[in-house]
Amino acid sequence: MKILVTGGAGFIGSHLVERLVEEGHAVTVLDILKNGNKVPKETLRNINLIIGDVRNEKEVLDAAKGCRVIFHLAAMLGVDVIAKCPVETMDTEFFGLKNSVKAALLNSAEKIIYSSTSGVYGREAIMHALVEDFPASPNSSYSIAKRFSELYLKSIFQETGLNSFALRFFNVYGPRQDDRMVIPRFMEQAQNNEPMTVYKPGTQTRDFTFVADVVESMIRVMNMMSGHDIMNVAYQKEYTIKHVAEEIKKRMNSKSEVRLVEPADGRYDFETGRRFGSSKKMEKLTGFAPETTFESGLIQTIKYFQEERSLTALNH
Ligand SMILES: NC(=O)c1ccc[n+]([C@@H]2O[C@H](COP(=O)([O-])OP(=O)(O)OC[C@H]3O[C@@H](n4cnc5c(N)ncnc54)[C@H](O)[C@@H]3O)[C@@H](O)[C@H]2O)c1
Repeated sequence: MKILVTGGAGFIGSHLVERLVEEGHAVTVLDILKNGNKVPKETLRNINLIIGDVRNEKEVLDAAKGCRVIFHLAAMLGVDVIAKCPVETMDTEFFGLKNSVKAALLNSAEKIIYSSTSGVYGREAIMHALVEDFPASPNSSYSIAKRFSELYLKSIFQETGLNSFALRFFNVYGPRQDDRMVIPRFMEQAQNNEPMTVYKPGTQTRDFTFVADVVESMIRVMNMMSGHDIMNVAYQKEYTIKHVAEEIKKRMNSKSEVRLVEPADGRYDFETGRRFGSSKKMEKLTGFAPETTFESGLIQTIKYFQEERSLTALNH
């Protein structure tokens, strides 16, 4: 099957593309390569990589010719990046989705699968795992755009019958992620025996979901579902950020100090005290819920990080 993956050269996209190629699909990636190309060399040989911008309608329509499924992942990411570039963040989301939907309709594609975020739940205080019908309350240009896209996909399904799914990822981590995100940032600090900076109070929790589980969820939705729906993709356990730093320090035998610091301006996200999700809906509809333990995911991520480090050192 011919499949377009926008943002396919990024962290999650590269894992998804690898899996799609393994399963024999013909994959086109459209990516602006903002943070380099994370697709492994062996996979790269078997895909059609187009360096282009999802905000550009012609580039998306050209890339999507003949596609049966579109995975739309291209986005601006990282708290600092978003705080610095709120307009570009919105543009990428809005025009990227609009162009992807147009491409899906023109090609009579079977479905579009969109990567949304747990950020759409906002900073609401929670006492239990977030479920999909918990009221959305997004509070950044990024999460507002993600919520807008979810609503747009629903209306497009109602108006045209294009099957559309929005998957709300909860803090994805794993090999190839870069240090815009907290886990690779802690690994870098631990490796260099530098202070591991945890934003106060450090007791804020997040639900860390391993990337292979996210890919499995996306594949199940592609293979099994039609209609429209929104689903969480969450490991369903919460860990404090301080605990995550301490675990990484311990597993990397680092001498770093875990240091609590004031969040910089623009880091509103850290005001969210607790966030963890329920994947029960995903499990009910696809028979799968994220299952990689945090311990196992962390070991695999550290192993990758250290191997990459050694390779880089060897090449210098
Ligand atoms: N990583 C997470 O924890 C997480 C959580 C929730 C949702 N998501 C969503 O999952 C998707 C993938 O995230 P990721 O972690 O792989 O991020 P990533 O930054 O590694 O990948 C995003 C990719 O999109 C590309 N891109 C950005 N702007 C583009 C443009 N204008 N045109 C074409 N390509 C463009 C980038 O070059 C990059 O390769 C994103 O939509 C993100 O919002 C990720």
